[in-house]
Parts: sequence; C-alpha cells; structure tokens
Amino acid sequence: MRILVLNGPNLGRLGTREPEVYGTATIDDIAPLVEASGRTDAPIEADVRQTDDEAELVGWIHEAVDARTPVILNPAAFTHYSYALRDACAQLQGVAPLVEVHISNPHAREAFRHTSVISGVATGVIAGFGLDGYRLAAAAIAAR
Ligand code: DQA
Repeated sequence: MRILVLNGPNLGRLGTREPEVYGTATIDDIAPLVEASGRTDAPIEADVRQTDDEAELVGWIHEAVDARTPVILNPAAFTHYSYALRDACAQLQGVAPLVEVHISNPHAREAFRHTSVISGVATGVIAGFGLDGYRLAAAAIAAR
C-alpha cells in the first residue's frame, strides 16, 4: 500500500527547528517509521513530501483524492487557519483515510494551536507522540 505523507510549513527544518519541542530527528527519519508499520504480506510504501506552500499542499491532496491514496498529514501551522486545505481534505471523505498528525501536542501549547480546521474532516488525529505519531498513523491506516 502506498501512503502519501504530507508535511506543511517549517517541517523541512525538523532536526534544528525548536528541538525542545520537535526533537532532533529529521524529515528523512519519517519514511522508515511509516514503512515499519507494514507487514511482509502487506508492505507500506511511504511517499514523504514537505512544502511551505499552501497551494502545493492543496494540489497534493487533490492528487490523493484522484488516486484514492491514504494520507498522513501534518498540516503544521496551516492546521489552525487554512480553510483551503480543509476544503481539499474534505474531498477525501469516503474516498481514502486521512490521519492528521502533530509531533507536539498542540492542546498543551499556545491557545491559537488549540483549534484545528482540519480535524473535522480527518478520519482521526494523533498528536503528542513525537515522530512516532507517523508510525502510529500508518498502523491505523493499515488496520482499516
Ligand atoms: C505541529 C504543531 C503546529 O501548531 C505547528 O504550527 C507546527 C507543527 C506539530 O507537528 O506539532 O508547525 O503541526
């Protein structure tokens, strides 16, 4: 199974960005974690991408809708205000699972992070488990 693993703004800087919040692992560490949730008889291929550009991220969601590809999405700051991204994600409903992932627990942080405009159209949300959240999200998709 192929899973699109999409990451929003500033996540390309994982490893050096606020390591006390996001840890020291980098974006390159995500694919092996996601693929670890596969089984020999049902392997997972992780297509990990990152962009700081809202339009590019929206385009990738359209691609997932058209190909009916499951998505793990860390929308980063777009989580909190991008109605365009939410409307794109809504098109995945009934088509393919969408798991929203956050490395940190946004609810334990500043008030503006407590709102996600994405969660209402996600299949589920995993937050606060560091990069392991990507592995957990893949396990949840594989189990469906
Ligand atoms: C984040 C949480 C967001 O609030 C923040 O803007 C990010 C990363 C996380 O993975 O914890 O960029 O999505």
